[in-house]
Amino acid sequence: MLNDIEKVLMSEEEIREITKQLGKKITEDYKGKEVLLVSILKGAVVFMADIMREIDLKCTVDFMVVSSYGSGVKTSGNVKIIKDVDIPLSGKDVIIIEDILDSGLTLNYIINMLKERNPNSIEICTLLDKPSGRKAEVTAKYIGRTVPDAFVVGYGLDYDEKYRNLPFVGILKPEVYTK
Ligand code: IMP
Ligand code: MG
Repeated sequence: MLNDIEKVLMSEEEIREITKQLGKKITEDYKGKEVLLVSILKGAVVFMADIMREIDLKCTVDFMVVSSYGSGVKTSGNVKIIKDVDIPLSGKDVIIIEDILDSGLTLNYIINMLKERNPNSIEICTLLDKPSGRKAEVTAKYIGRTVPDAFVVGYGLDYDEKYRNLPFVGILKPEVYTK
């Protein structure tokens, strides 16, 4: 598996440090409030598990499953909700926990859908931001790290459902997905 990685982009230590800082910022910004953390499976599962423990607030957590990718490396923009949020959003301060914001098509679709349920607020916390890929106007309030235009895997992120279990984020060798 390691042979397929061109370069480590974020080490375990860097991820831990960034997650701590983001959790601290969210804790300060939402002081006295109760937040609902919504994570999008499967990619964000590792980040969610780590960041929720860095947020010192009363919070509830929920998960969504969506699909927009197939097995390629570019989003189709065709978002399908496979599992919706169970908790009612009305009046809630919602933070969407994402692994990576690329074209923004997935989050744009989800946010528009969730806004109709009248949450008090809705923000995005993403570990990685790839602004070069943006097609929809979506901005995350909390960003761990901006990444270059390359396909990354690990720490929850997959290529064709694999590499999610790598403890770091790395750039996948292009020959892995072009062959
Ligand atoms: P978007 O709709 O293009 O913003 O796609 C967002 C989703 O695509 C993320 O939640 C990831 O699951 C996936 N994705 C985007 N870029 C990458 C990447 O470089 N590696 C792995 N998954 C990615
Ligand atoms: Mg994914």
